[in-house]
Amino acid sequence: MNIAVIGTGYVGLVTGACFAEFGIHVTCVDKDADKVSRLQAGEIPIFEPGLEEIVKRNVQAGRLEFTTDTRAAMQRALVIFIAVPTPPRTDGSTDLTYVDEVARTVGEHLDGYKVVVTKSTVPVRTADRVKRLIEEARAAAGREQFRFSVASNPEFLREGSAVEDFLRPDRVVIGADDDEAVAILRDLYNPLYLIEVPFVVTNVPTAELIKHAANAFLATKITFINEIANLCEEVGADVHDVARSMGLDGRIGRKFLHPGPGFGGSCFPKDTRALVSFSREFGVPQRVVSAVVEANEAQREQMIHKIERLTDGLDGRTIAVLGLSYKPNTDDIRESPAVEIVRRLQNRGARIRCFDPQAMNNARRELEAVEFCGDAYEAAQGCDALVLATEWNEFRMLDLDRIRAALDKPVIADLRNIYDPNEMKRKGFNYTGVGR
Ligand SMILES: NC(=O)c1ccc[n+]([C@@H]2O[C@H](COP(=O)([O-])OP(=O)(O)OC[C@H]3O[C@@H](n4cnc5c(N)ncnc54)[C@H](O)[C@@H]3O)[C@@H](O)[C@H]2O)c1
Repeated sequence: MNIAVIGTGYVGLVTGACFAEFGIHVTCVDKDADKVSRLQAGEIPIFEPGLEEIVKRNVQAGRLEFTTDTRAAMQRALVIFIAVPTPPRTDGSTDLTYVDEVARTVGEHLDGYKVVVTKSTVPVRTADRVKRLIEEARAAAGREQFRFSVASNPEFLREGSAVEDFLRPDRVVIGADDDEAVAILRDLYNPLYLIEVPFVVTNVPTAELIKHAANAFLATKITFINEIANLCEEVGADVHDVARSMGLDGRIGRKFLHPGPGFGGSCFPKDTRALVSFSREFGVPQRVVSAVVEANEAQREQMIHKIERLTDGLDGRTIAVLGLSYKPNTDDIRESPAVEIVRRLQNRGARIRCFDPQAMNNARRELEAVEFCGDAYEAAQGCDALVLATEWNEFRMLDLDRIRAALDKPVIADLRNIYDPNEMKRKGFNYTGVGR
């Protein structure tokens, strides 16, 4: 089978490479010509563990190609995945410009039956819009004799473990209104069916809504434990023991109960706001998720107060920030809590020295007046405090004596609770974590 994946970013590249790994012929399309030439030259434009090997292997095997030509890619494909960005507008609603653009191109060049699948995270009922745009473009191009189906196949991969998540997902969700599309998509995913991955085959709006519901629920869990952590600090309780005991209750589960500076990344902030926004349009307010959005914003500020208390003011202080990506094992800094914290500290007059193992290139494009350092020890040099903002493994095993010697004052704000507070106090640090 031939498929096309339109949009070769975190989702599109992983999807394309992994389908090629299943033995399918994949053409990945991107309108960013520079990205496409880098991929054609064998360079992987993002940091994602395990991705480079499978891209190289499948390119060599002739199963994976890259192009800027959507028309050529779609014409030989039976299935067209849309994996383009769906960024938030300032009011939180979803900007569907990129999705619309792909739908129009598909309609304009339709030359045979195609299954058009949204993998991008889109508001419920976007498939109706995609269908209408394809129909309009198809009519304008005089190609009404060619049929197509629209399906939804939301993606649940997590950056940092995206390849593993794609090849061994918790579930595959397929939303389609006709049996032909379902059969083709089942066939495409057959290798996962064979390893007994659960399949949820449902109608299109249900599939579209599953993604937002799942992400909003996970964001709610994080926010819930963050607010409990803030309470723990006031009453002398330890949030780790609270979270662990909560999580041991099988009805609750242990995951996503780690307190920190609030959720970030390219998905949770955007998807929670989008759910609030489109639900309002349907006249069904999502009060819980609205509160989550608000509380997450407050959590960022809470972190700034925490640092400010430790350093006795921020104006004129020099602060080392370790970690800039929104989570470990990725170079993605979109809506990263660490980057937001750097900005807020700067706004209050602090100077920043920072280090991240993978995200410095991306951060250089976003942050101004920051000193980018070669490692954690260089970042700590001469600082009034050190902030652990992202829990990269290499920050879990710092030589703390070296860090203390490098810092001007032995002050650490551990926003990811990597270290044991008692141990840190014994080592002579003025240390604070979150909720303990
Ligand atoms: N990143 C994640 O962890 C993740 C997980 C699940 C779902 N999603 C969703 O997947 C979608 C894509 O996210 P991403 O992180 O991969 O985005 P991304 O920005 O990394 O990649 C998107 C790519 O699409 C390209 N593009 C835009 N318009 C195009 C067009 N008309 N034709 C061809 N290429 C085009 C861009 O140049 C870019 O390279 C979003 O809806 C996102 O919410 C993301």
